[in-house]
Amino acid sequence: MLNLGILTISDKGWQGQRDDDSGKAIRESLSLLDSCVVKYEVIPDEMDVIAGKLADWADEGNVDVIVTTGGTGLGQRDVTPEATLSIVDKVVPGFAEAMRAETFSVTPFAILSRAVVGVRGKCLIINLPGSPKGVRECLRVILSVIPHAVAIIKGEVTEHIAQGVDRE
Ligand code: MTE
Repeated sequence: MLNLGILTISDKGWQGQRDDDSGKAIRESLSLLDSCVVKYEVIPDEMDVIAGKLADWADEGNVDVIVTTGGTGLGQRDVTPEATLSIVDKVVPGFAEAMRAETFSVTPFAILSRAVVGVRGKCLIINLPGSPKGVRECLRVILSVIPHAVAIIKGEVTEHIAQGVDRE
C-alpha cells in the first residue's frame, strides 16, 4: 500500500476561484494503484510555501509519494520545479523525460511543462502539469513504475527486476 500526498499548486485554486479538478484527476488515476491518499492541500504559487510543504510532508515519514499539479510552466508565477529542486536529495530525470516525450505525440504543448521528479529522504516527489488532461496523460506514462521506484527508495528491493512493467 502506497501512502500518497496530493499537492495542488494554484493561486486561483487557493483563493477559491477554481475547483481542483486536477487534484481529483490525480486521485482517480492513482486509484489504479494499491494506494491511500494521506495528505491533500491546495496552496498558492509561492516558492517558500511549496518548498516548505514538500519538505514537511516528506520528512514526516508517512508519505511515500507526493504528486504535485500546477506551476510547472513558463509564467512568472510558475515556480514549482524550482521549489522542488530546492528540497530534493536526488533528481530522477527519466520520469519527466518520459512524460514529456510520450505525451508530445498527444500535444506538442507537453514540452512547455518544466516538471521535475526527485527523491527527498524516502519520499518520491513528482511534478505534473496543471490541467486535468495533462495530469491524466502524464500519470498514464509513469504509473506502472511508481511502486517499484518506491520499493527501491525504501530499501525494500535490492535486485533490479523489470517483471510486470515490460511493454508488450
Ligand atoms: N502535458 C500533457 N501531457 N498534456 C497537456 O495538456 N499542457 C501543457 C504542459 N504539459 C499539457 C502538458 C501546457 S499547455 C502548459 S502551459 C504546461 O504543461 C505547464 O502547465 P502548468 O503551468 O499548469 O503546470
